[in-house]
Amino acid sequence: PVRIGVLTSGGDAQGMNAAVRAVVRTALRMGAQPYAVMEGWSGAVAGGDGIRKLEWDSVGSILHRGGTIIGTARSAEFRERAGQLAACRNLLEHDIDRLVVIGGDGSLTGTNEFRKNWPSLVAELVERGDITEQTAAAHPVLMVTGLVGSIDNDLVGADMTIGADSALHRILEAIDDISSTAASHQRTFIVEVMGRHCGYLALMAAVAGGCDYVLVPELPPAEGWEEDMCRKLAKGREAGRRESMVIVAEGATDRSGNPITADDVKRVMAERLGEEARVTILGHVQRGGKPSAYDRWMSTLLGCTAAREVVLATAESEPVIIAERHNRIRRLPMMEQIRATRAVKDLVAAGDYRGAVAARGSS
Ligand code: F6P
Repeated sequence: PVRIGVLTSGGDAQGMNAAVRAVVRTALRMGAQPYAVMEGWSGAVAGGDGIRKLEWDSVGSILHRGGTIIGTARSAEFRERAGQLAACRNLLEHDIDRLVVIGGDGSLTGTNEFRKNWPSLVAELVERGDITEQTAAAHPVLMVTGLVGSIDNDLVGADMTIGADSALHRILEAIDDISSTAASHQRTFIVEVMGRHCGYLALMAAVAGGCDYVLVPELPPAEGWEEDMCRKLAKGREAGRRESMVIVAEGATDRSGNPITADDVKRVMAERLGEEARVTILGHVQRGGKPSAYDRWMSTLLGCTAAREVVLATAESEPVIIAERHNRIRRLPMMEQIRATRAVKDLVAAGDYRGAVAARGSS
């Protein structure tokens, strides 16, 4: 049978298990044999127990579980040629030249590098006598399909990435909980949320949580934001609001690119309003716990589609990302989407925020 590998890479995200389960069971239904590559690319580099055969029951009772049961990592070895040679040899030991990779844009970029290097890796392995000419001839290319697993929701072209909805739920639960203690003391809370370079979680949490002020990396506040924020918070108090909430994305900066942290906001409030605000950094709680209903069904549909894509792929197939776009499951050209995602990050880094919004919207 056709053999496929499935791996999760980069930061874990709720819904990855649902995707793995769907990939495995769809592949089995199609008569293919799935394998897990454990701990992200590290399992491929290590070989041995790092690549494991999966059966129907291997993925039972995981749909509702957070994290990823096959482990994840950001493998430094895999970025080096030696690591890629080992990964190629170990995959070929199991006759695997088809992979579903579930990870963020960094993981998918690494995957594409590996795919491009594959023919030269195979040639080098033949030269070294690690694999036979026959094996090399049977696996001339690596066929890959990507799923975007990242709570950040930072892939251009996808409406939602795996885990983003659950993380947003987690943030809202925390905001709701904090609200009651904030109201009791008439306090302001400053909540830092994850999202590295992407303000999606911060912005949507602020809207859905009815927060007072939000700082995101894509639209750094204009000079004088401290004054503006304090005025808004003071107005809320005057209007009788008992609690106030400021959301800060972890990657928030000012227009010169200097980070704005939750502690910076706290200091501003102490200096300008004489108010002792409290800071809550939600951290990895956002990535933990059960996936939401949305992350379960979306990841299941994505996983089914990805398995079909990779099992039926031919040497000529271009690598694609399977993602939800405009409320439909779509095949998107992998490299184009990753290039567009990088371009948005570069525009933000260069301070061209309008350009970044336009670039995100048009792809
Ligand atoms: O990319 C997902 C993410 O959760 C980011 O939001 C965050 O900045 C980062 O991963 C944290 O990574 P780590 O788990 O390695 O601390």
